[in-house]
Amino acid sequence: MVHLEFYDGSGQASCEELNEYMRQKKEILTRAQAGEEQYRDSLGWLSVDEWAGEERIAEIETFAKRVRDDGDILVVIGIGGSNQAARAVTCALPNQSKVKVLYAGNNISSAYMKQILAQLDGKSVYINVIAKNFETMEPGIGFRILRQYLRKRYGADYNSRVFATGTRGSELQELCVAHGYTFLDFPEDIGGRYSALCNVGLFPAAVAGIDIRAMVSGARDMEQNLKTAAGAENSAFQYAAIRNVLYQKGFRMEMLASFEPRYQYFNGWWTQLFAESEGKDGKGLYPVAVKYSEDLHSIGQFVQEGTPVLFETFLDIENPDEELILEADDVDDGFDYLNGADLREVNRAAFLATFQAHSERLPCVRLKIKELNEYSFGQLFYFFEFACYLSGSMLGVNPFNQPGVENYKGYMFQALGKHK
Ligand code: PA5
Repeated sequence: MVHLEFYDGSGQASCEELNEYMRQKKEILTRAQAGEEQYRDSLGWLSVDEWAGEERIAEIETFAKRVRDDGDILVVIGIGGSNQAARAVTCALPNQSKVKVLYAGNNISSAYMKQILAQLDGKSVYINVIAKNFETMEPGIGFRILRQYLRKRYGADYNSRVFATGTRGSELQELCVAHGYTFLDFPEDIGGRYSALCNVGLFPAAVAGIDIRAMVSGARDMEQNLKTAAGAENSAFQYAAIRNVLYQKGFRMEMLASFEPRYQYFNGWWTQLFAESEGKDGKGLYPVAVKYSEDLHSIGQFVQEGTPVLFETFLDIENPDEELILEADDVDDGFDYLNGADLREVNRAAFLATFQAHSERLPCVRLKIKELNEYSFGQLFYFFEFACYLSGSMLGVNPFNQPGVENYKGYMFQALGKHK
């Protein structure tokens, strides 16, 4: 499980105020554990087995095998919650299949799309378009360009290379029926940013050879824990409470930090989850993420001496997997104090030193994770989704809508001549 420690900014662990806040908000945990009626149509992720039970996993594996047996490249076409979780795991974990997963439909850059297309010739290519609401322009454009590419290369049979993840009854499903594409469910009762553990996140991961059963098992164990643990025993509740207590004290930013660059895209997933879920009604913590140790040489200065608006949440991997010993060298480069050291120990020393320095100045949360692997990714996805539901509820916002993202679209569609 994820183990959590909180330091209040003076270098000391602080409990009293937090415990009082958790006592006041305990009903929120009880309601979330049961799943509230008011959010019923957004809580499909709350029970992992609903969309990642044995039958669905078997179907994903069958589809993924088709791509893995014949393909070299899978282009995932999606944006926001429709691609972040898959990208987080496929870019962090070693690819166990010969299929390389690329990501498109997440921007409108012609140069980016040309770079994607340039990688496809001579390869066996499959695509997976993922869109809950098939009106989103970026995946719409990406799908059209890549579909046309496939049709030119493979003729009428191109359709067997198209997997489409959409909601039942959607226009995307109608296209699947009309053109013979393979259809996968995008659960109606799961919003994009909560969709890591269903077809949306799991199918591309399975194509990349990720052990999705281990991922689901991690999520399921986390679900079991978070749905039964009460009050301060519940790490997601504790984390949500810390966020809200600090928000009430005037902190306006939460920075997710780790010393593992493989979390790069997980950072993006986390940022989206909290930004879209909580940033509304004039409220919410602004979520940002950093990659240490690199960002200690830039953001680190701000953290240590800049405007005191942020607190920091560290992902602490207790057992990093890759040993690398620094050999002694006959060139006198001034680094002999590291002779024979394992890079994992050096990284750990940098982490502990940073944690000490930062926690003496600002509140810091330490989330301890055993290892970076499929199982822990499943745990983290579920942990943060559940915590975000709790945290948004404490803040008094609806964690499942995103009305603000519509505003710019009106102007954009007007400029582009879209009339319906
Ligand atoms: O979390 C969300 O709901 C959003 O970020 C969506 O995932 C994102 O806007 C993409 O939507 P769609 O899948 O409809 O293209």
